[in-house]
Amino acid sequence: MSVLLTGAAGYVGSHACVELLNQGYSIVSADNYVNSSPVALERVRQITGRDFPAYETDLRDEEKLRAIFRAHKIESVIHFAGLKAVGESVKKPLEYYDNNLYGSIVLLKIMREFGVKSMIFSSSATVYGAATKMPLDEKMPLGCVNPYGWTKFAIEQLLRDLCLADPDFSAVLLRYFNPVGSHKSGLIGDNPSGIPNNLIPYVTRVAVGELERLPVFGNDYNTPDGTPLRDYIHVCDLARGHAAAMAYAAAHKGCEAINLGTGKASSVLDVIHTFERVNGVPIPHFIAPRRAGDADESWSSTEKAERLLGWKAEKGLDDMLRDAWRWQRQNPKGYHA
Ligand code: NAD
Ligand code: UFG
Repeated sequence: MSVLLTGAAGYVGSHACVELLNQGYSIVSADNYVNSSPVALERVRQITGRDFPAYETDLRDEEKLRAIFRAHKIESVIHFAGLKAVGESVKKPLEYYDNNLYGSIVLLKIMREFGVKSMIFSSSATVYGAATKMPLDEKMPLGCVNPYGWTKFAIEQLLRDLCLADPDFSAVLLRYFNPVGSHKSGLIGDNPSGIPNNLIPYVTRVAVGELERLPVFGNDYNTPDGTPLRDYIHVCDLARGHAAAMAYAAAHKGCEAINLGTGKASSVLDVIHTFERVNGVPIPHFIAPRRAGDADESWSSTEKAERLLGWKAEKGLDDMLRDAWRWQRQNPKGYHA
């Protein structure tokens, strides 16, 4: 019996591969490498000393996906595959709905064909939209502010409806906060192409000298130092959360949404100063205009994850930024070296 990981070569997926292989699971990877490299999977093999089948396929290619389910006895699916750039989703909504939502529909249809009734889905704290009451907990009303968010919202709703229609189906909707850091080996990590959208990859590319200065998008937010607060979570803690969700789904039917965050909030300036302190590398920065759509704060209630999954994040911001820097320093050109 194997677990199918869609989007396994991506940032979160590759770390989850390591965790699951280390825990003894057999895995199968399906990825079209639109935002990743098969080298990441080679590195997973190197870290774990374990081999696994990896298919290059787009989720929307029904025949290829069916062939994977025919070739392997899949017991459950962890569904990471998706496009994730918020700004791009505003410019290309059709592409985002097609890739994320239609891709999920094809996957779920094939799962039904083969009687696979368990899915762990990569959702996002973005489904809380412009909520202002912190910490964010799973009972809060949902609403999104961009097409990327709406694709997550729609897939969540699809899984809720599937679980209502089929009492044997298990779905865990994992709402990630801000995943950062990398595996301690420095062999796998976040590898965005072009100029990074997210804070930590931008910081590490300034540190490595590829970018000159970090723009801090606004210092007039309603927060202690004026820069926005986020709940950064180490990607290895996040990966452990997926293994905990697998165990939960194996024992429970129905659909549960669960936040994966640390419950701690750090500002942009906290991140810069912590990075400089733990790594001894200066991060030149300047105050730039606000970026459209950024909230003052976003941080997680951790109560439900602790209660249902017995899972709690263990690593702090120091570990996250030390590990993010090790990855970037060892791989200044990402996987393209
Ligand atoms: P990523 O881009 O590194 O990984 C996604 C993977 O999916 C890539 O390997 C990509 O090639 C693959 N993929 C995309 N569309 C595909 C398709 N149609 N068929 C097959 N493969 C496809 O992203 P990530 O950071 O690892 O995120 C994983 C998941 O978690 C995504 O669904 C993302 O939306 C979600 N998420 C990420 C964050 C974050 O900040 N990283 C936060 C919340 C939620
Ligand atoms: N920031 C800067 N300069 C940069 C990049 C970011 O100041 O060059 C700031 C942003 O303004 C924000 C903070 O750093 O205040 C964090 O920004 P990120 O882009 O790293 O993360 P977000 O919280 O905006 O969004 C992330 C993911 C989304 C996801 C959301 C909630 O990118 O996909 O977390 O999970 F929806």
